[in-house]
Amino acid sequence: GLVNSKDLFAKAVAGGYAIPAYNFNNLEQLQAILQACVETKSPVILQVSSGARKYANATLLRNMAKGAVEYVKELGYEIPIVLHLDHGDTFELCKDCIDNGFSSVMIDGSHHSYEENVALTKKVVEYAHAHGVTVEGELGVLAGVEDDVVAEKSTYTRPEEVEDFVAKTGVDSLAISIGTSHGANKFTPEQCTKNEDGVLTPPMLRFDILEEIEKRIPGFPIVLHGSSSVPQDQVATINQFGGALKDAVGIPEEWLRKAAKSAVCKINIDSDGRLAMTAAIRKVMAEKPGEFDPRKYLGPARDSLKELYKHKNEDVLGSAGQA
Ligand code: G3H
Ligand code: 13P
Ligand code: NA
Ligand code: ZN
Repeated sequence: GLVNSKDLFAKAVAGGYAIPAYNFNNLEQLQAILQACVETKSPVILQVSSGARKYANATLLRNMAKGAVEYVKELGYEIPIVLHLDHGDTFELCKDCIDNGFSSVMIDGSHHSYEENVALTKKVVEYAHAHGVTVEGELGVLAGVEDDVVAEKSTYTRPEEVEDFVAKTGVDSLAISIGTSHGANKFTPEQCTKNEDGVLTPPMLRFDILEEIEKRIPGFPIVLHGSSSVPQDQVATINQFGGALKDAVGIPEEWLRKAAKSAVCKINIDSDGRLAMTAAIRKVMAEKPGEFDPRKYLGPARDSLKELYKHKNEDVLGSAGQA
C-alpha cells in the first residue's frame, strides 16, 4: 500500500539524498513518474495540489494513486509510494485528504502569523498522527505565487524559529524558504548575472540559512519547494515551435545536488515536468499537423517526462537505487 514519509525521510537524511516529490494531475504524468521511479529504483512522493484536485476530481486522483501501487508491481519492482497533499491551506482540506487515503499532507501556514501557523499546523498534526499520516509544515514565504498569494520578495525562514515550531507543532518535516520560488520565472533578469552567451545565473541560494537551521534541528527532515531547474533546451524547443516563454530561469541542478546531500530530504519539482510535456507536444503539433489522436502527442510528452524524472533521480537527487 501507500506509505507515509517517516522512514523514507530518516533514510534519506542519513543517506545524503533527497526523495523526489513530483506533482501529477493526469494519467500521462502519473505513468511517467511511476515508470521513471521503478526503472531507477527510487522511492517517490506523488503530490496532489488543491488545484489538481479541482482539475482532475479528487475521487479519480485518489484512485489513480491507489492504482499506482498495483501498477508498480506489474512493472516488476515495488517502490515505496507516498500520496501527499501539496500546499494544503486549511485544516478541512487536510482532513479530507487524510480521511480519503492520503499518507502525507502539507499544511502551509506560512502566510499566517507565526502563532497562527503554529496553531493550525498543530491541529493538523494531531489529526494526521492519529491516522498514521505524516505532516509537512512551512516557515518562511517563497517569492512568486503560492496559494494564490503573490509575494514580491521571499521572506527567508528565520532559523531562530525552527526549533520552537517543530517542538510546538510536532511536524514530521519542514519546508523552508532560502531563495527558491515556484514556476518557470524564478528570478528576474536583473537579479541574475549574464555571461557572454546570454546564459543567466541566478543569485545563490541562502545555504547559510540552511546550515543554521541544520545546527538548530540536527537531522530533522527539510523540504525544498520551487526546485525546478527550468532546462534551457526545453524552453528553446517551446519557443522554437510557437511558444513565448520569456526570461525563464530556474535553480541550477548543481545547487540541488548540494541541497540533497544535506538534511533536505524532499525536493519538489513540477514546472520542469510542465516544460518537458509542453515542448514535446508543441514539437509534434508543429511537425505533424495532420495528427489529431491525443495519444500521438501525449505519448511523446509522457516519454519526455519519464526521461526528465530518471535524470533527476539519477543525476540530481541521488534517490536512484534507494528503493
Ligand atoms: O506549488 C505549486 C505546484 O507546482 C502545484 O501547482 O497549484 O498549479 O497545481 P498548481
Ligand atoms: P517548481 O515550480 O519549481 O517546480 O516547484 C514545485 C513545488 O514546489 C510544488 O510544491
Ligand atoms: Na538529503
Ligand atoms: Zn511548493
